[in-house]
Amino acid sequence: SSQLEPNEKVLIGCIGGSGLYHLDNLTFVKKLDITTPWGKPSSPITISSLPSGDLIAFISRHGPNHTITPTEVPGRANIAALKHIGVEAIVAFSAVGSLREEIAPGHFIIPDQIIDRTKGIREDTFFRGEGVVVHSMFGEPFSKKLSEFIAPRVQKILSQQDGEEVKVHTGKTVVCMEGPAFSTRAESLMYRQWGGDIINMSVIPEAKLARECELDYTLICTSTDFDAWRVGEAPVTVEEVIKTLHTNAGNSRAVAAGLLQDVHNVVAEGKELNEIKGSMKYACITRV
Ligand code: ADE
Repeated sequence: SSQLEPNEKVLIGCIGGSGLYHLDNLTFVKKLDITTPWGKPSSPITISSLPSGDLIAFISRHGPNHTITPTEVPGRANIAALKHIGVEAIVAFSAVGSLREEIAPGHFIIPDQIIDRTKGIREDTFFRGEGVVVHSMFGEPFSKKLSEFIAPRVQKILSQQDGEEVKVHTGKTVVCMEGPAFSTRAESLMYRQWGGDIINMSVIPEAKLARECELDYTLICTSTDFDAWRVGEAPVTVEEVIKTLHTNAGNSRAVAAGLLQDVHNVVAEGKELNEIKGSMKYACITRV
């Protein structure tokens, strides 16, 4: 069947970024081919089961064959599709460049802030043209509780992996740029002065749209390069990014496989993460 049965509950959605086009260590259940009022998601939604039988939804952000540019990612369709099937929390992955010496390629980062440097050409709200004026609360752009819940678990899972030790950074700021070209050296240096720690092209509008759907959203970043700020070093190229992408994807799959059951359990319990649900109740402004 290409639909969920009434007894099939999927509470957790996972969005894979560059390098992470599928998960493993999970049992394939079905693919959902969903069309939303905002179009089709980046990929069919893969429903897989954890060893417990609990179900997970997965979307590949750039498409299964990496054909969708960051600017063209159908953010609204992706988030609406996950919301529609009943997902309550999203664990998203993203390859990022590092703006800091201490964040080396291969490291993991769970950021807590965003600087939006996209150019206003992405659809970043469900409410445009709907005749309502909606300002979602976005001062804390990630689910603080979910991020704090996953951080020690991500750390633990990575410490159990073979190979070089993988460091996990928390409390960092991700700059989201439009692309598709990488930043200039001057921009890269400016982002450092602004307090940016890492840079990607995808967290906006995903995080905003998740907030409008009252979904808990957390981002697990994997560093691939030092962007363009390092004096005396060649600025980032796709070749450099791809070098670390495969190692990072392997580690990300291990993290997903080890983490998602715990995330499912805490979401299913419905107590610990209740900061986002209900927030949109206060987001619509009318004349008072
Ligand atoms: N994704 C991976 N590396 C990046 C960089 N240096 N800038 C923007 N997005 C990235």
